[in-house]
Amino acid sequence: MVSKYHLRSNSIYIKDTDIPHNKLGIISAEELHELEGELLEEAYQVFYQELDEHTLFNEDYFKALHQRTFEGLYEWAGEYRQFNMSKGTSRFCQGAYIATNSAKIFNKLAKINYLKEFTKPKEELAKQLAYFKCELIALHPFYELNGRITRLFFDMIAISNGYSYIDYSNISPETYINASIECVQFANSDSMELIITNGLK
Ligand SMILES: Nc1ncnc2c1ncn2[C@@H]1O[C@H](COP(=O)(O)OP(=O)(O)O)[C@@H](O)[C@H]1O
Ligand SMILES: [Mg+2]
Repeated sequence: MVSKYHLRSNSIYIKDTDIPHNKLGIISAEELHELEGELLEEAYQVFYQELDEHTLFNEDYFKALHQRTFEGLYEWAGEYRQFNMSKGTSRFCQGAYIATNSAKIFNKLAKINYLKEFTKPKEELAKQLAYFKCELIALHPFYELNGRITRLFFDMIAISNGYSYIDYSNISPETYINASIECVQFANSDSMELIITNGLK
């Protein structure tokens, strides 16, 4: 079926590839991944330095992470997607509901003061981080780079609570994807909670 979503989705990627059109005209996947990696590394430094007691981990902040990290490369940096997307057998939030659902998630996060200076024990912080991380994984609001920006977001919250960046180095990509599948398909954050509990140091 040719829908407008289908047409829009094609406009993000270079025809017949999974390489997004980009401002630098890069057509090599390898080159693009390398550059994305460098931009993300710079972003970690910038956002780490900017963190202070006034930082609010709200929706504007979340979008700004994506926008400011990738605006040199992608037109749609910081913009929510307009069409539906899936990976494997997981279907993420429908494009039409992203803004509404995102507002709901961030309103809920606001109610617990964005997990800033969360005074409860580590286990409770991990549980909350996993819950909100799962919500954002299921939302999958951007066209690309959701995984990296979502990790950056929760890493900054971890820092604000006196922890290091969440360590994912001891788990395999499959474990992480399976936990994501549980988030998206079963609204279950137990596996993600385990990952975060082990990664919070
Ligand atoms: N099959 C899947 N089911 C559910 N979620 C998935 C699946 N595959 C990947 N994901 C989630 O999507 C994220 C990747 O999204 P993507 O926009 O490509 O970001 P990035 O380019 O930073 O990896 C993963 O980190 C994971 O959380
Ligand atoms: Mg990707």
